[in-house]
Amino acid sequence: MVKINTCVFISGKGSNLRRLILNSNKYNFPIKIKLVVCSNKKAEGLKLAKKWSIPCLILNNKQSFSENKVLIKLKFHKIDLILLAGYMKILSKRFIRSFGKSIINIHPSLLPKFKGLNTFERVLKKKEKKTGCTVHFVNEKLDAGKIILRKFFFIEKEDNVSSLKKKTQNLEYNAFSEAIIRVVK
Ligand code: GAR
Repeated sequence: MVKINTCVFISGKGSNLRRLILNSNKYNFPIKIKLVVCSNKKAEGLKLAKKWSIPCLILNNKQSFSENKVLIKLKFHKIDLILLAGYMKILSKRFIRSFGKSIINIHPSLLPKFKGLNTFERVLKKKEKKTGCTVHFVNEKLDAGKIILRKFFFIEKEDNVSSLKKKTQNLEYNAFSEAIIRVVK
């Protein structure tokens, strides 16, 4: 199968990256991860890239300089798809336009509810009945691009921030891969 050259952006633990790598190693999963971009040199997820010998680009704080560097690397690796898997920085409009191909993000809430950060705290405060994750295309507005899919669960009385995070992330792993298959096939 012809696989799409893909770059995954991370900032932290990389548990979504781990699942994406494992799936991409299967012959019938439609992406090949050619590059990892990371906004944090101490991110645990970098170890995964190293383990699987995936080239990594670690960004410093100067955004425009870094974004130019990323665009050059994306071209070099002939990247056609970017996946934001826990990338905690906002991509500039210029970057999104310059890349010009699909960028997909996973977000830990049922968008359009709870865009931005600290989703679990806000979900609990608002006494929501359910929550979950959303996979969506990235556009120039924060967490507002076209939704590809959502998965949800019902919140229980005992739930707290860490249990919601765990339950949400367990949904994310399949959601991200399902969304990729939906978009690519
Ligand atoms: C994921 O839960 C993802 O939804 C969230 O960061 C986590 C990364 O976990 N993304 C955002 O909050 C983006 N605004 P991971 O590094 O273990 O994959």
